[in-house]
Amino acid sequence: MNTINHPIFKSFQWKEHSLKNRLTVAPMSRVSATTGGLATDEMAAYYSAFAAGGFSMIITEGNYTDETASKGYAHQPGLTTADHAASWQPVVKQTKANGALIIAQLMHAGALSQYNQQTLAPSAIQPVGNKMAQYGGTGAYPFPQAMSLEDITIAKKGFVDAAQLAIRAGFDGIELHAANGYLLDQFLTPELNTRNDQYGGSTNNRFRVIAEIIDAIRSVSPAHFLVGIRLSEGKVNDLKYRWKDGAAMAVEILEEVKNAAPDFVHIAVQSGEWERDSFYSNGTSFAALARQITGKVIIANGGMHQLTRAARVIEEFHGDLLSIGKAALADCAWPLHTLNGTPPIAFHPDMLWPEATIKHTNTIIQSNQLIHS
Ligand SMILES: Cc1cc2nc3c(=O)[nH]c(=O)nc-3n(C[C@H](O)[C@H](O)[C@H](O)COP(=O)(O)O)c2cc1C
Repeated sequence: MNTINHPIFKSFQWKEHSLKNRLTVAPMSRVSATTGGLATDEMAAYYSAFAAGGFSMIITEGNYTDETASKGYAHQPGLTTADHAASWQPVVKQTKANGALIIAQLMHAGALSQYNQQTLAPSAIQPVGNKMAQYGGTGAYPFPQAMSLEDITIAKKGFVDAAQLAIRAGFDGIELHAANGYLLDQFLTPELNTRNDQYGGSTNNRFRVIAEIIDAIRSVSPAHFLVGIRLSEGKVNDLKYRWKDGAAMAVEILEEVKNAAPDFVHIAVQSGEWERDSFYSNGTSFAALARQITGKVIIANGGMHQLTRAARVIEEFHGDLLSIGKAALADCAWPLHTLNGTPPIAFHPDMLWPEATIKHTNTIIQSNQLIHS
């Protein structure tokens, strides 16, 4: 296929935004902020290089949302103080100057924190698996404490305050991280949420905390500010997790998403095995269902650097935009290289070892001469 005519390079009009292509950088935690969670100059070089490299939108790594229990990793950026917002401002400015939209991901790690000794979750259920060494974790996850209604109120306020700080930093929008097994996904997942109050039980109850957060963020944001949600079945500590009820559960959750009316829905497939891990027995995918049911802009994810798969996603209406993770961190100029027929630098697991910091990516950025300041 001639890449210039590939559907990933078709422009996309989204509200007042004209995206030059369908290529978004997937959120990737890079544990490179200061110990106090401030974004750095190095991070400005990192994020803006994706824009210079041809991506039309960038979703940041997950920002923690409150100082109480949300933090996932040491050196994770946060959006809990005016200083955090100020530290993101130059990152946002440089990225926009290079021609891309930039969205802040808001994340509460819940029971999957690599950082907190005492974690909070909807229910006191110990996560399976071990913590992640590249993010500073060692050993098994602790038993979380079941959240009180007051804890839930604090967590919700954290998301809303963080969204306001994202507005102040100049971001084009936020993405609520309700995927990959973190707090909001813990609420959604029946096996991890055995509450018998208004936040547990029915799908409507398990979605309630997300609906309340979206509503509250809407009420404090300007109309142009994009509010999105990221969902997945798989979890970082259980990549092959699927809902027991398959497509039926997807439909129930997506009906709730439709009512909450975010601007976009991002369907993550962390394993990168999009066909294997996001299709249902009736032949439809989670992303396609999201598109049909919500009618919103859908971002598909999971090995989307594979051009045949990417073409199928767009041509068969699974998604409008594609987010690319590992292939982007390996080569921040992946779009430009693909467009001009230069093989992009391939991802290698050593790029995230021994720590998942941006050091390696920034070395590549320098060699590509993509640092614009
Ligand atoms: C280093 C790294 C960090 C990640 N951090 C996050 C994160 O902060 N938030 C999130 O939603 N997903 C995170 N992910 C998952 C990616 O967004 C994406 O779903 C996954 O890499 C699959 O896409 P890919 O096949 O294009 O790599 C991370 C992935 C990687 C490789």
